[in-house]
Amino acid sequence: MPPYLRLGSIPPKRHTEHRCEPGFLGEGIYYEEVVTTAGFSRAYSIVYHLRPPTRVRRVEPAGRLEIDVASEPALRHYHLKTLSLPRQGDPIFGRVPLLTNADVTLWRCRPERPQGELYRNATADEVIFVHGSGGELHTMFGKLVFRPFDYIVIPRCTTYQMTLDNPARAELLIIESGPIVEIPPRYLNPDGQLRLGAPYYERDFHGPKELTTVDRETDVTVVIKDGSRLTRYTLASHPFDVVGWDGMLYPYTFNADDFEPITGKIHQPPPIHQTFETKAFVICTFAPRLLDYHPHAVKVPYAHSNVEADEVLYYVRGRFGSRRGVEEASITLHPRGIPHGPHPGTIIASRPMTHTDELAVMVDTFRPLHPTQAALKVDDPTYPYSWLE
Ligand SMILES: [Fe+2]
Repeated sequence: MPPYLRLGSIPPKRHTEHRCEPGFLGEGIYYEEVVTTAGFSRAYSIVYHLRPPTRVRRVEPAGRLEIDVASEPALRHYHLKTLSLPRQGDPIFGRVPLLTNADVTLWRCRPERPQGELYRNATADEVIFVHGSGGELHTMFGKLVFRPFDYIVIPRCTTYQMTLDNPARAELLIIESGPIVEIPPRYLNPDGQLRLGAPYYERDFHGPKELTTVDRETDVTVVIKDGSRLTRYTLASHPFDVVGWDGMLYPYTFNADDFEPITGKIHQPPPIHQTFETKAFVICTFAPRLLDYHPHAVKVPYAHSNVEADEVLYYVRGRFGSRRGVEEASITLHPRGIPHGPHPGTIIASRPMTHTDELAVMVDTFRPLHPTQAALKVDDPTYPYSWLE
């Protein structure tokens, strides 16, 4: 989890009365809400509202977001050219599911308009990798500014509204995670601080910096997603009515260009790129870096068969040394059990190179991923044969 943070007005002791100015509102106190993970067992924050966060005027069904999984008759590699997806909808309802299993769904979103209603994912953390535009994520924790190449980590049950500086250029990859998304424990020392050898530091994680307390006694709707079910809640007041909070549970950003690649004399295995971890998959960042410096080093990866893992790469920026034919926003899926590796010619071509400018996000899942019908529409069916001379 990101480091402890506090913003705004909080009382000296938790679960004691936080009194507001005489006559300001209701009962003369701010209303405490404890937001937690894993029941009450893991990271939490304590939030103080102007009004109780529990006042609901209406609960209505709002439809379902079913994922149309393709029943594929053969095991094969996929190359999804996701820039050919049409722009549609907003950052929530413009999402197109591409790859899924019981733990995680990968969505692409190419929005054509700003987010309409407030939205909350009740059962999954969301990691949104953004490029093409910056913007702001508004939550009860305050305003979180994001910029291109940020991962925005949004804990489950965070109600949010995303604004984009340039919606017509925004490209979002949404990693919807059933398990909790965390910083890999191996990067932490026993005191909970990031180790000196970790590929990033506490300063690279950015939480909300500005609290904008919305004091509005008016009906506000929030669409809540739990699994495929959508429910529309009409609240009696705006939920971003927070005067202060502290804790270790809040949305935060980490920029891929702040990743400090670990390089070696010869090829380093993929885990050195690891950025986030869950019980069911990992997220890695392939960031611009120096290439291997042994005089006879092979500077692109070896062929391998992804034993017990399905490997997804989302190509973001730069030239990808080991691949041919991929373009910005391409997604490849290399499933378990069949080898993939550098494309023909790339080993020799990489000999004179001293560094790579590639930027890619990798998601390695421990259970098989299934492409959706939407994925097949942007798939290049010749990709499995692309390793032939
Ligand atoms: Fe691989």
